[in-house]
Amino acid sequence: MNSVLVASNRGPVSFTVSDDGELTMKRGGGGLVSGLSGATKDDGVLWVCAALSDGDRSAVRLTPGGRIDQAGYDIGKVRMLDIPPATFHRAYNAVANSTLWFVNHLLYDIPNSPSFGTRFAREWESYRDYNGAFALALAEEAGHGARVMVQDYHLTLTPAMLRAERPDLRIAHFSHTPWAPPEYFSLLPDAVAREVLEGILGADHAGFLADRWAQAFMDCCEALLGAEADRAGRSVTHQGRTTRIGVHSLGVDGDALWERAVEPDVESHMAALREQVGERSLIVRIDRTELSKNIVRGLVAYGEFLAAHPEWHGRVVHLAFAYPSRHDLPEYREYTAMVQRCAQEIEDTYATEDWDPLILNVNDDYPRSLAAYRMADVLLVNPIRDGMNLVAKEGPILSPRCALVLSREAGAAAELGPHALVVNPYDITETADALHEALVMPEDERRMRRDKLHAAATALPPQKWLAAQLDALGPIDEQQAL
Ligand code: G6P
Repeated sequence: MNSVLVASNRGPVSFTVSDDGELTMKRGGGGLVSGLSGATKDDGVLWVCAALSDGDRSAVRLTPGGRIDQAGYDIGKVRMLDIPPATFHRAYNAVANSTLWFVNHLLYDIPNSPSFGTRFAREWESYRDYNGAFALALAEEAGHGARVMVQDYHLTLTPAMLRAERPDLRIAHFSHTPWAPPEYFSLLPDAVAREVLEGILGADHAGFLADRWAQAFMDCCEALLGAEADRAGRSVTHQGRTTRIGVHSLGVDGDALWERAVEPDVESHMAALREQVGERSLIVRIDRTELSKNIVRGLVAYGEFLAAHPEWHGRVVHLAFAYPSRHDLPEYREYTAMVQRCAQEIEDTYATEDWDPLILNVNDDYPRSLAAYRMADVLLVNPIRDGMNLVAKEGPILSPRCALVLSREAGAAAELGPHALVVNPYDITETADALHEALVMPEDERRMRRDKLHAAATALPPQKWLAAQLDALGPIDEQQAL
């Protein structure tokens, strides 16, 4: 039996299956996985996650009880759940990604969406089943009194479900996203909004990446549940139970990142990029092609910058890495196409025989991203809204002289803001000006700021971040957990 368990939709690895049935393993993507992978691998933590693809499902079927670590892969303890594909699809795409993600990132085009009818009721039922499958697996795997860390908006109902099954457990929930203010959160049907909040309040400890998001959650609990929020003591009391609220601002393990970033594959990408861009200055962005990342406005801002500063023509290149994400959703496919159109416009307007002003890369390539970080003069991170944004933290660790242009709506702005050029993500002209300011920033100032960014980015590396949340669940009698 296990004394510490982590549960999240996406696990540390994913599998693809070739036509001849051969499985290939790859690291999972996104902020949650980057954060947790380093922290859990060596400490005997059991990670429960969902099979996301046919490849994952094949891997699960080849291992007893879905324990894919027992099939000879060098990963920590991982149990993958083979949830029926239709249930998974409705829970992940329709509810988690098209509803809860949209609500918490304020992404709706309000005159047209959302609208909740009978179809949503079915989807919500699947979300419940999917959360229930996690609760069941955790209840099976957890030792008496074990500590269970449930992650993110996919699994908001699991804490309360698990508590009902196993009142002996100590349960934490952590949100890797922002949290919406009550007037936006209450776009959800009332019963659904309440179920989400009460699901999380089933935990002993509810964690957030930034104080803003924790406050918004408490606002929702007060407004929609009539719960009692103690702002100073950071807790919410509802129906006689108290859940502590924590703010744990996930950072980066700088040494591990550096170790990876000096491997030969990264060095050879650096050489290739240098060959391609010469000695020109580099503005870098690295994102999933995600609506909340605001890539289109970022590109338009770069276009405005080029229009306003002809002196930079031929002397700067924008490396925009926008990796495919959630392509089962039409909004994401359309957004990717829009990013490509926008990039093409910049090319058509400014490219010359010997200057490519923009290199847009839409294929996921981790070592190439690390190479770009190392070479960046400017890093552009301009999300509409973001729980934290680890790119804003990774860049200054890997680049010795990068100036950061950062959206004030990223959770990371709370810590990095004083040393970054902070912008309103909707204000394209301000963003264009900030790109210019970042490019011409004097060398001593950029190094001074970068050192401070580096210190802030590494302040709470994943190991410590996880340890802080485990501590918040209180000490545990290891004997009991066996
Ligand atoms: C964000 C979420 C994570 C999610 C990641 C990637 O960081 O907070 O929970 O895993 O995006 O999204 P995906 O849908 O590909 O798992």
